[in-house]
Amino acid sequence: MTMEPRRILLTVTGGIAAYKVPELVRQLQREGHEVRCAITSAAARFVAPLSLQVLTGATVRQDLFDPSEEGEIDHIRLADWADLVIVAPATANVLGRMSHGLAEDLVGAVLLATQAPILVAPAMNVNMWNHPATQANLELLHAREVNFVGPGVGELACGWEGEGRMAEPEQIVAQVRVLLGSKSLVGETFLITAGGTSEPIDAVRSITNRSSGKMGFALAEAAVSRGAKVCLVAGVTALPTPAGVERVDVESALEMRDVVLAKLGSASIVIKAAAVADFRPEVREEKKIKKESLDPQAGLTLRLVENPDILAEISASKGSRLVVGFAAESEDVVQSALRKIKKKGCDLLVANDISRADAGFNVDTNSVYLVTPDGEVEEIPLLSKREIAAQILDRVEKLRNEKPC
Ligand code: C5P
Repeated sequence: MTMEPRRILLTVTGGIAAYKVPELVRQLQREGHEVRCAITSAAARFVAPLSLQVLTGATVRQDLFDPSEEGEIDHIRLADWADLVIVAPATANVLGRMSHGLAEDLVGAVLLATQAPILVAPAMNVNMWNHPATQANLELLHAREVNFVGPGVGELACGWEGEGRMAEPEQIVAQVRVLLGSKSLVGETFLITAGGTSEPIDAVRSITNRSSGKMGFALAEAAVSRGAKVCLVAGVTALPTPAGVERVDVESALEMRDVVLAKLGSASIVIKAAAVADFRPEVREEKKIKKESLDPQAGLTLRLVENPDILAEISASKGSRLVVGFAAESEDVVQSALRKIKKKGCDLLVANDISRADAGFNVDTNSVYLVTPDGEVEEIPLLSKREIAAQILDRVEKLRNEKPC
């Protein structure tokens, strides 16, 4: 299942990072959630309440004692309405007020009254963040199981460098997925490979497979949001690491094999979404091959040798571990996939038709067939890679129920 739409109360306090809040609202809405905002008077100096009202289609609550605001939805009903409360940006001041239960304004009162989980995205000057008072407040809040995302390290609006940057909206949204996810994969440890491998020819050149890594990264993100532990072995890709995922970067198929075998012992589910190069140059020249050193008539001949098939190797001794493979096919997709699953020996094969412009490499959508060793074929129509990932995981969960650890 993809995530159920939920009700999110976004509370905003007074920091410059509040300029990112409209984008955060949009991203939460794109996930299907209903968003309402409550802001402090200091936040209203950084982000226009009217912008948030237009985006959310709801009154932006600010004043605890305004009869018309309270008449529409009083602050206790607002606190009860939320399935999740986010504080972004969270200033040092609101962390202090939260940790000591101070409720002199609407945001403070809502944070005290809500029974919903709270996610805090701090943003402040590095010295304010490192101050013992802030750190002591954080300790209290951690002990009360308040959730945090960020802050990141970098250039701060105040001119200092260091810890204190608010997490980016996509990182906050990823954390929301984790908090509101189904938890149906708690206890499982995933090992997922993604991206293409790069097989070196010399110091600067390589042979690679076309792959953006998007499908494998979407699977990693989806598995974390269902409560699984995830190790993502990433080949060539420019994608950022999904929140909560352990990532190991590799280049060649041989490196990928080494990491996969080293991590295999702790994995209960393996998904091999990587586009592994089937061949590598037999010799890797240490230095760059100089064009001038070659005879232009003869050209350059590369001898390629076969890479080990990691999927087949781990499937051969999988025991109670579930192993899922991928297949990129350009013709006869289903028949090729049925042959391939027998050859590879995995529990499920996800086959996609790379001849379609809207599926496969480098696009955000995909359409796949799920194929099992006993010949069952399920078509998943064109959907976003995130939705495809959710459907693959639904199927993995079903297989896990049939084949428990
Ligand atoms: O044989 P083919 O490359 O089509 O198989 C694709 C599946 O096998 C993918 O799951 C891919 O990650 C895996 N594979 C592998 N090692 C290779 C080649 C492919 O694990 N050398």
